[in-house]
Amino acid sequence: MERVAGFLWVLALLGAAGCDRIMTSAPPAGDAFSSPLDGLGPDLNAVFVQGDENFARVFTVEEGLGPIFNNLSCEGCHPGDGRGTPQEGFFRFSREGDLLTGQGGPQHQDKSIPGVPLEEVPAGVEQSFRLPPPVFGMGLIEAIPVETILAEEDPDDRDGDGISGRANWVLAPDFVPQTHVGGGAGLQLGRFSRKAQVSALVHQVAAAYHGDIGITSDFLPEENPHPQAGGVALGDQVPDPEIPAATVLQTVMYVRLLSPPDLGERTAQVAQGEAVFTRLRCAACHVPSMKTGPHYIPQLSGQEARLYSDLLLHDMGPGLADNRPDGDATGSEWRTAPLWGTRLVEEFLGGRGFFLHDGRAPTLDQAIRAHGGEAQASREAYVGLAGTEQQALLAFLGSL
Ligand code: HEC
Ligand code: HEC
Repeated sequence: MERVAGFLWVLALLGAAGCDRIMTSAPPAGDAFSSPLDGLGPDLNAVFVQGDENFARVFTVEEGLGPIFNNLSCEGCHPGDGRGTPQEGFFRFSREGDLLTGQGGPQHQDKSIPGVPLEEVPAGVEQSFRLPPPVFGMGLIEAIPVETILAEEDPDDRDGDGISGRANWVLAPDFVPQTHVGGGAGLQLGRFSRKAQVSALVHQVAAAYHGDIGITSDFLPEENPHPQAGGVALGDQVPDPEIPAATVLQTVMYVRLLSPPDLGERTAQVAQGEAVFTRLRCAACHVPSMKTGPHYIPQLSGQEARLYSDLLLHDMGPGLADNRPDGDATGSEWRTAPLWGTRLVEEFLGGRGFFLHDGRAPTLDQAIRAHGGEAQASREAYVGLAGTEQQALLAFLGSL
């Protein structure tokens, strides 16, 4: 009830801004990826609405887009706050473990503004395609205490189940305030992005403005160096920084406050599928729920985050490997993909499905069959299931 009230409040504001189309076409709050957490007060709701506008904002060359970039807006890659398609992701580069800092950086921007040459792919690099993941539930993920996540680790596989799971320890950039989760000196627990290579939301978001859209901010005030510039400044004409810290922080708050959708209907088949999910040890990595710790936003404090992930790295075998290490993550390790919101994926992508880090699997069945490495036994068990149990498992996934 409270969520509906909050949602209507937001819609009223959007309506006031002349965006009444959303009134009729938006799905119910529990069936969307773009709803705020239940019961936010007016102050947080106002930041949420502003962050929502930032997220949808399409940047122009006059506003500082580029010089090299991948997309014009956050929303362009994370449509409806869900995952993108293979048209919207980008490649990350590396060469023998080196993330190519100073050579155009570890990300390939495939577009440039007029007058700026396209970024060439450096020779001999490993390329790792990344499908944009959904961005809801980021505050819940942020609010899970480090100890809770580490309790799921079993790096030496002491319980001998073939499933280890370990943290990606990373350094946060200096611009991340110490007071933010994942900020401060020394190694921090990575939780965000496909290899959990990012410890703090403000790092994720400032780097997205900078690397994905070519928008400098107080956090990252210098344009992405163009690899073919040969030392010559090759930028846009807009003075840097192009957006203030406050804008980045509003956008951080937006993804922090996005609620995961409600669970779908719990039929007898879904209940049967859940039992199969547990029996096949899917839940050893896709941990159904973790409890958040104390948080200054009450809606993020002491909540069950039903994300179906341990947020840890797992070796998924050569089939899924990108051979591109990142932080502690090896070329075959990935963060367990959260499964919340799975039931809405195809609806949001016009009936198509794109699963796994590069979107290679069009169906859940194919995503499971692509599991290897630590998940090999789970995969074999799935392949060997009777048809009814397989259907039940898929129905369960389709209810998350
Ligand atoms: C060009 C496409 C693109 C654009 C534009 C883009 N993103 Fe992303 N986003 C991605 C991809 C791809 C990843 C995963 C990156 C990886 O794993 O290395 C990601 C990851 C994220 C994550 C982490 C999600 C998780 O599960 O840990 C957040 C949050 C996020 N983006 C927010 C934003 C915001 C906010 C903006 C706008 C400022 C933005 N993104 C712009 C493609 C994009
Ligand atoms: C050893 C840990 C592990 C086990 C066991 C495991 N998974 Fe996964 N799962 C992962 C990781 C890691 C990914 C992300 C891989 C990638 O992006 O390439 C993933 C991805 C997925 C995805 C794709 C999600 C998306 O949105 O792209 C689905 C669906 C899935 N797993 C279901 C299952 C099911 C069902 C089982 C049990 C039969 C299972 N997994 C067992 C670790 C595991």
